[in-house]
Amino acid sequence: MAAGAENPQNAENGRRLKVVLLGPPGAGKGTQAQLLSARLGIPAISTGDMLREAVAAGSELGRRVEGIMAAGKLVDDALMAEVVRDRLAKPDAGSGYLLDGYPRTLPQAKTLEGILEESGQQLDAVVMVDVPVDELVRRSLLRGRADDTEEVIRERQRVYREKTEPLIGYYRERGLLREIDGHRPVDEVTAHMFATLGLGEGVD
Ligand code: AP5
Repeated sequence: MAAGAENPQNAENGRRLKVVLLGPPGAGKGTQAQLLSARLGIPAISTGDMLREAVAAGSELGRRVEGIMAAGKLVDDALMAEVVRDRLAKPDAGSGYLLDGYPRTLPQAKTLEGILEESGQQLDAVVMVDVPVDELVRRSLLRGRADDTEEVIRERQRVYREKTEPLIGYYRERGLLREIDGHRPVDEVTAHMFATLGLGEGVD
């Protein structure tokens, strides 16, 4: 078992904590990452947000990924490795982070492991936020992002089941997986996040 996995509290009550948020599209990973980031003082790193910013800026990266995102498919692993490697090298990531939307495939999980190993680090926990599929579709339709049409939402769910769900077993085997019921009010989910990460002020 990875050091720190058994007791993430070791990570100075949230500081230097390196956590992956896993779960289907619409589960609330981004919402929770922002809330935890504000309370823990570590960055929430969302690959989806980074790619959307690149699209909005019209950068080369944005032009490469725009059509893929609009179709609800995954950007290829090699390109995502570059994006994540650059982001994790920024100074603010040195104090820990909440990764939202990465990794999403087994090769991405191995890339992340490699990046961490290079600096003698490892993940503290992987929190899986689960929500029934009908609720996922309802939430995404309500949100109405550019890739939130019913057809693309269903495609993102399909891709999740095919490519990302295997990560649940991968991280369970490594003793890192924590599971959270995301089909509850936002503040209750946050409280359980804190509790599951062994951070004191969890359940208010
Ligand atoms: P990404 O932005 O990661 O989209 P996603 O996986 O579809 O995730 P969402 O943002 O839809 O869901 P979320 O779980 O963050 O939920 P949220 O908090 O927003 O990726 C977009 C695209 O980028 C991908 O399709 C792919 O093309 C590409 N991409 C990104 N990363 C990649 C990677 N690693 N590899 C390859 N391609 C990649 O909440 C959803 C809604 O529900 C919100 O309106 C929110 O207000 C609401 N809500 C949240 N919590 C609750 C609650 N408890 N109760 C009620 N409503 C809630």
